[in-house]
This record gives sequence, structure tokens and C-alpha cells, in this order.
Amino acid sequence: MRRIWQASMIGLARSSAMKSFMQNSRATSFLRNKYVAGETVTAGAERAVALLEKNGIRSSLFFMGEYVDDPALIAETVQQKHDAAEAIAQRQLDIHISVDPTQIGYVISPQQTQGHALKLAKEIKRLAEESQGIHCLMFDMEDASLNDPTIALHNTLQDQGLPVALTLQAYMRRTMEDMEKQVQRGSRVRLVKGAFAAGPKLAFQGTTEIKHNSRQLIELMFSKTAKSKGFYPIIATHDTNLHDFAIQVARKNGWSKEEYEFEMLLGVREDIAQNLALQGERVRLYVPFGRDWWPHAVRRIGENPRNAVLLTRSLFS
Ligand code: FDA
Repeated sequence: MRRIWQASMIGLARSSAMKSFMQNSRATSFLRNKYVAGETVTAGAERAVALLEKNGIRSSLFFMGEYVDDPALIAETVQQKHDAAEAIAQRQLDIHISVDPTQIGYVISPQQTQGHALKLAKEIKRLAEESQGIHCLMFDMEDASLNDPTIALHNTLQDQGLPVALTLQAYMRRTMEDMEKQVQRGSRVRLVKGAFAAGPKLAFQGTTEIKHNSRQLIELMFSKTAKSKGFYPIIATHDTNLHDFAIQVARKNGWSKEEYEFEMLLGVREDIAQNLALQGERVRLYVPFGRDWWPHAVRRIGENPRNAVLLTRSLFS
């Protein structure tokens, strides 16, 4: 059931006719306002400043777009990521930029993607030289066909001493093995449940199995081996049971609050993020900005069917 629902949302995210209709409809603007900081780099950077000042919450900036096959849009996306890195460096925030490989050229040429990612990671390293903070180019993880290329891209840049981080998805059966390798590398890994759909051979299908795998992965991410390797766990979920579980395992294995973080999405249960920050936990929000907001918003609908009811009501009222 979860797979069918998510697959339909992915279909909606990829449909360019639907995207154009939704992004131009006034009825859907509540979704944009809820999940997106604004159209410009400045809007994204200012939201990041406000989150830090008001609640002590850090940000990861994300110029939206996915599966981009238009060379002009790829060039604009890469430029926006560079601009975002500069804008947040100027404001002395973490230079933390999220990127999907398919938005910076993977659809056209994997080599081109590597070139863009390399330049971005070098730029983040240069900007970070004089500032304290958690700086990195964070690779988002897309559909199953992108697992190997994204991990390889991350590892290549990491081997060059560049500040990179990787997202792994608990719904994928392979993730325990991938995580073990990243623990050995002492990486920085963001664990998510997974916003894509894959068949039963590749992926766990039910919520219970995915949660069970999330717990096992959290045990590994906060293991004594992971700590000794300098691994940095990022628990990216709005699931409070998993937050509590991660904190419990962290305490049991002697991790301090500066050695890991929680990450959530702008506009999704920000009350939970605030509560964690008030408890002294390190918290970050994923802050999307740009014009191309429909694919991001429709995934949020996939995660919470209540949003589909709100959307239907606003379209027909
Ligand atoms: P889960 O679905 O278990 O719900 C937990 C609670 O949060 C429930 O109370 C639920 O109602 C509420 N909730 C969840 N989503 C909501 C929403 N949209 N609106 C309102 N309430 C909501 N995925 C991926 O495949 N690749 C990636 O790179 C990333 N990157 C990423 C970064 C960050 C920072 C986050 C937080 C998430 C991602 N994801 C992702 C998405 C992730 O895979 C997953 O789809 C969502 O986080 C939803 O799962 P949760 O575990 O957060 O909540």
C-alpha cells in the first residue's frame, strides 16, 4: 500500500504538465509557503539565519530541482548552489548544501556531475577555511538506480579530502552493508527512511520493517566502532520514537551531543525540531528554495496523506 501510494506521488512529481499546472495555481500556494523558504538564495539564507537566531536550529540549503535534463537549468542549478554556499558563509552559518546528483547533470552525463560536485565541494572547503561549523556538500539519495553512482561520487570526493556527506535510506535492503562501509570510512551519513519506491527484492515494503531496519542502522551508526572511526551520525526523520531510540543508544555508547545531529524538513513538524533543540540536541532543517517546488511538495504529500486532503479541498473550493 505504502509503495503504491509513494509510486503515485513519484509519478506526479515527474509529470511536467502537472508540475506546470500546480506551480502556477494559486490554490496550491499553501504547499509552497509551507515547505519552501522562498524563490531566491537570499530568502533561503535569511530563513537559515532566522532559524538559528530564534531556535538555535542549523540549516542545509537546497536549491530545488530533480532529474534535470536541460543544460541551461543544470548550469543555473550549479550556480545557485555556489551562490547559496557564499550567502551562508557571509552570514557565518554552517556551509551546508544539499544536492541531488540528477539536478547537476547526471541525466546527461555522469562525468559532468562529478565535475560540478568536485567544484562545489572545493568551494565549500575554501569558504570553510576560516570558520567554525559543520560544513559539507550533502548528497541526497534518489531512486535505486542512483545508489551506486551516488555512493561512488561521495567516496571519490571524500578520498580527495573534501567535505562531503551521504544520505542512505532505511527502506533499501542493501543499506546495512552500505552503512557498514561508511562506518569504516568514518563518514558523515544522514539516515532517512526513503521517499522513493522500489520492489520487494530491493526494498522493505512495510512501515514496521522499515522502522525495524532504521533501529538496526541507528545501533550501527552509534556503535563503539563508529565512534572510534570518527563517524558522524545524522538522524533525519520526524519520527519521535526513532529520536528517542537514537538518544538512548547514543547515551549508552558514550556519544556526546556534539558528535551527532538530527535533521528535519522545513515546514514538517517544526515543533519536534524545537523540542529537540531545547533539550540541547544539535538540530538542522533542510531548507529548500527556488521556483521548482512541486516535486518537493508532492513528496511531502506522499509522506502525509492529510496533505492530499488539504490539496484536494483547496483545488475544488
Ligand atoms: P514518518 O513518515 O515516519 O512520520 C513521522 C511523523 O511525522 C508522523 O507523525 C507524520 O505524520 C509526520 N510527518 C511526516 N511527514 C510529514 C509531512 N510531510 N507533513 C506533516 N507531517 C509529517 N528521502 C530520500 O529518499 N532521499 C533523501 O535524500 C532524503 N533526504 C531527506 C532529508 C531530510 C533532512 C529529511 C528529514 C528527510 C529526507 N528524505 C529523503 C525523506 C525521507 O525519506 C522520508 O520520506 C520523510 O522524512 C518521512 O519519513 P519520516 O521518518 O520523517 O516520518
